[in-house]
Amino acid sequence: MSDTAVETTVKGHKRLERNVTLLGAAALVTVAIGGIVEIAPLFWIDNTIEPVEGMRPYTPLEQAGRDIYVREGCYTCHSQMIRPFRDEVERYGHYSLAAESMYDHPFQWGSKRTGPDLARVGGRYSDEWHVQHLIDPRSVVPDSVMPTYAFLADAPLEFEHIADNLTALSYIGVPYSEADIEQARQDVIGQADPDVSPGDLGDRYPGAQSRDFDGDPDRITEMDALVAYMQVLGTMVDVDSAAAQEVLAEESGR
Ligand code: HEC
Repeated sequence: MSDTAVETTVKGHKRLERNVTLLGAAALVTVAIGGIVEIAPLFWIDNTIEPVEGMRPYTPLEQAGRDIYVREGCYTCHSQMIRPFRDEVERYGHYSLAAESMYDHPFQWGSKRTGPDLARVGGRYSDEWHVQHLIDPRSVVPDSVMPTYAFLADAPLEFEHIADNLTALSYIGVPYSEADIEQARQDVIGQADPDVSPGDLGDRYPGAQSRDFDGDPDRITEMDALVAYMQVLGTMVDVDSAAAQEVLAEESGR
């Protein structure tokens, strides 16, 4: 820039800085441009979440377990979102993808970690460990401050209205099929009762695990549902697969 150009710029800026109204108006215009660039695209794209292979809606049993998780306020002590920081990734596993909570209504990211993050707790412990831990946390982790949830093992799971539950979720975008909704009650039984065949549950919900979760094969309890939910957390997406890596690269803007 030539000397005169610099002079004019400095002069212009001086005027801007000394005139409150002008400065306010200029700041407003600048911020508005930033705002429009951020917000406008949202009106033209249907979804801000990149779908990732492996994500599926929860089975009715897992969904029932999730409702118990919400009812008991587990989210007041546990988060379900691993942030992309080294310490978190080393402790909890691969950081969470947006798609991994796309069927969560409401999402359970949480904002408090009195206990560890649970986003990838699925498969980390046995069912027996979870049951024992929920019945008496201090019998497995002596210093634990987690409350006991022993009553869940005695509470029969109420799933009379599970089909309505799935219908409501389908209204807000969870892709449950008509068959999923029709068979919801039967699916709960098929997944949790070892004496009943799960039927085509595994076709409609790939990777769904069916077994007795709470160690009491004679009845279906709230413990069955909650443990089924714990065991599926973070297991749907294979974060090391090529497809997931592609989404990751896109999400991080590379
Ligand atoms: C008052 C806070 C609090 C509440 C409420 C709470 N927890 Fe915990 N939870 C903890 C703490 C602290 C730990 C770590 C010590 C331990 O393992 O018991 C923990 C550990 C866990 C673990 C083991 C995680 C790991 O990676 O080792 C699981 C699973 C778990 N909680 C599930 C639940 C569920 C399900 C609920 C609701 C029914 C719940 N928690 C409610 C505090 C809480």
